[in-house]
Amino acid sequence: MLGGGLLYNSVAVIKGAPGTGKSCIGMEYISRGIIQHEEPGLIITFEEFPRQLYRDAVSIGFDLRAYEKDNKLRTIFTTPGVFLREIQQPGGIFDRTIEEISAKRVFVDSMTQLERITQDPVQLREIMYTFLNGLLRYEITALVTQEDAFITGNMSVAEAGLSYIVDTIIQLRYVEISSSIERALIVLKHRASDHDKSIRRMLITSSGIEIKTAFEGREGILSGNPYVTRRLKRAEEFFK
Ligand SMILES: Nc1ncnc2c1ncn2[C@@H]1O[C@H](COP(=O)(O)OP(=O)(O)O)[C@@H](O)[C@H]1O
Ligand SMILES: [Mg+2]
Repeated sequence: MLGGGLLYNSVAVIKGAPGTGKSCIGMEYISRGIIQHEEPGLIITFEEFPRQLYRDAVSIGFDLRAYEKDNKLRTIFTTPGVFLREIQQPGGIFDRTIEEISAKRVFVDSMTQLERITQDPVQLREIMYTFLNGLLRYEITALVTQEDAFITGNMSVAEAGLSYIVDTIIQLRYVEISSSIERALIVLKHRASDHDKSIRRMLITSSGIEIKTAFEGREGILSGNPYVTRRLKRAEEFFK
């Protein structure tokens, strides 16, 4: 869907309501880097205790603890304020950890927690900018998450301008179909490449994320309440 993948030394954001699968995608991104591409990874989490993170990763088939023992992974569990200070400081915990394992991939969960530092949108935007630039001082590719306030319906790109700073935006959505909830994944923005514009089904399984075919024959997926598209043309052909 990304026409070749994430851009080297860039930042991608995964947006979505709680439970849509943001953390799962991030953990898989880091895990696949380690297992398949010899790219050590760093997870910075403001939300979950490492213990909980390990447990969540196991449920989608990845053993973060083993990668950590192998010195292919580090996790930092801290507050946004502390981390913002560290990231601007040469020789701080961020610098040391990246260098220690030669990390190539970084996952930050979640940027929404930076809102705890300030309520002022202008200042928040500056903080996000400082934060992301701090990340990109190294030869790494970063994936960050941002929580959507709405479960379905409204989509906002206002959120402190993160969408304008990042190179790639991946949107996760809940979709109600025939009285059950499904997940959708959309690439909204991907700099410097032609990306897949379709809205695809996404599954979370015990062996990771699976991206399926597009939602065919339905309109209004982004509203969260799609309706079946009338296939008048087909019917006309049928009765010819
Ligand atoms: N093995 C699995 N099979 C199916 N669903 C799973 C599995 N493991 C976790 N999930 C689902 O993934 C969701 C959590 O995703 P998560 O990435 O934590 O969401 P977010 O970070 O967007 O809040 C939960 O709804 C959980 O039920
Ligand atoms: Mg999460």
